[in-house]
Order: sequence, then structure tokens, then C-alpha cells
Amino acid sequence: MGLFRKKEAVSQAVPTHIAIVMDGNGRWARKRGLPRKAGHKVGAEAFRTIANYAKTIGLKYLTVYAFSTENWKRADEEVHAIMQLLEQYLREAIADMDKNRVRFCFFGDLTQLSPALQEEARIAAQRSKRYEGVQVNFCLNYGGRVEIVRAAQRFARDCVEGKCAPEALTQEGFSDLLYSSGVPDPELVIRPGGELRTSNFLLWQSAYAEYYFTDVLWPDFGPKELDKAIAAYNARNRRFGGAK
Ligand code: FPP
Repeated sequence: MGLFRKKEAVSQAVPTHIAIVMDGNGRWARKRGLPRKAGHKVGAEAFRTIANYAKTIGLKYLTVYAFSTENWKRADEEVHAIMQLLEQYLREAIADMDKNRVRFCFFGDLTQLSPALQEEARIAAQRSKRYEGVQVNFCLNYGGRVEIVRAAQRFARDCVEGKCAPEALTQEGFSDLLYSSGVPDPELVIRPGGELRTSNFLLWQSAYAEYYFTDVLWPDFGPKELDKAIAAYNARNRRFGGAK
């Protein structure tokens, strides 16, 4: 954990990796009599603000659930709106890359996304490799169970081809077969929006994560809310299965 000091002399230890389920966009919009896509638009802005703030406080990894394998069940219009926002975000991120210096990574099966979005994701990941500050992991067409099954398939294939033996598999080796290979597990998983579930997010990686739930809806989740979540995390006693 790094130590962060703001000008206002508030200081707190910042975890290395924070993961967020960006939930509540639809309700935020409904409360205002707006279409759901308006909530996603403000949600995308909330993400932009949090990603910048993450950089300021010295966070190393920020993973966000932008679109799940289950989100395809939503109305075509809503899916389209989310995809458009992602495209727009990545286009702008690519254009402003040298200013923002954020490293981009993508977890999920991108082959189901539009060719334009796939290409933007590829360019964003490729061109941002050189930056050393915060890494943003976008979970796109991502599901924790699919990720685990895919890793098991990859391992089984290697076994069949004689490249490895089943009993040689370790937890670390299995982690390396996941989308998140090389990224340390999140210490803190945040879910705004009032729902108390994991929704298939980072199932393997969050085995020992601290969860922070808040009723604040994602479009209203700003730096102050992130500070609160980090403070709550710092007040926890992490034992990893050990005694008190
Ligand atoms: C969950 O809220 C949110 C999503 C399924 C989409 C998240 C997408 C964005 C924030 C926009 C694109 C992101 C970026 C970073 C450009 P919900 O719709 O389930 O909300 P509800 O539970 O209130 O209906």
C-alpha cells in the first residue's frame, strides 16, 4: 500500500488495486425521469473523474465492470448506448493519452464487440503500455465464471498436448491463465447502487478482498465517496483466514 497525502493534510494508505461495480445508472436516470442511457452517460463521466482521482492518489490498478456477459439481455437500445459511450470514451482516451498517461487493459471476450470497439480497445492497450502510473482494467463482455471456465479449458488443452500435468497446477499458475494475469488481486471491491451481491465480478481474484457497499448510485460516486471507501477499508482487520 502506498501512503497518500493531500494538500488538505488528509492522509490515508491507498490499496494497490481497487475494483468497482459501476451500478445504479438506470435508477439515477429514472429518479430524474430520464431514459436509462442518460444514466450511463453520467456514469461514464463519473468513471472519468474517478480514474483521474485514482491517478492523483497513487492507486496502481483500477478495475471497472463496464459490461458483463449478462448485460446482453438488456434492450438493444440500452446495449447500443453503452457501446457508443465506451467507443466515445476510448476514442477520447486515445486522443488524450499523453496528457492522461493511463495504461489501459481489457478483461473479457472482446470478439463479441463491434469491430470498431475492438480496434479502439486494441489501440488503447497497445499505445498506453508505456505509461507507468495507474492501470485501468475495463471488464467488457466479462463474466467471472466464463473467465474461470476459459482458464480451465486453456489448462486442459495444454495437458492434452502434453505441455503440463494436471497435478502441477498451482493457484498462482491458474491465476496466470485468467484475463487478469500479472495483476495483483484487488484488496478492495466497491459496489455502489445499494445491491449486496458480487454479480459474477472477479470471482477468483476477490477471494480475500474487502467489500464495500454503498447506497450512493454510481453517477453520484465521486472522489469523496472513494475516500470513504478507502477509509472503511483501512479500518478493517484483514486476517486472511488467520486468528485475530
Ligand atoms: C450498471 O447500472 C451499469 C452498467 C451495466 C453499465 C456501466 C456503463 C457505464 C458506466 C458507461 C460506460 C462506461 C465507461 C467507463 C465509458 P444499471 O444500469 O444496472 O443501473 P440500475 O441497477 O440502477 O438499473
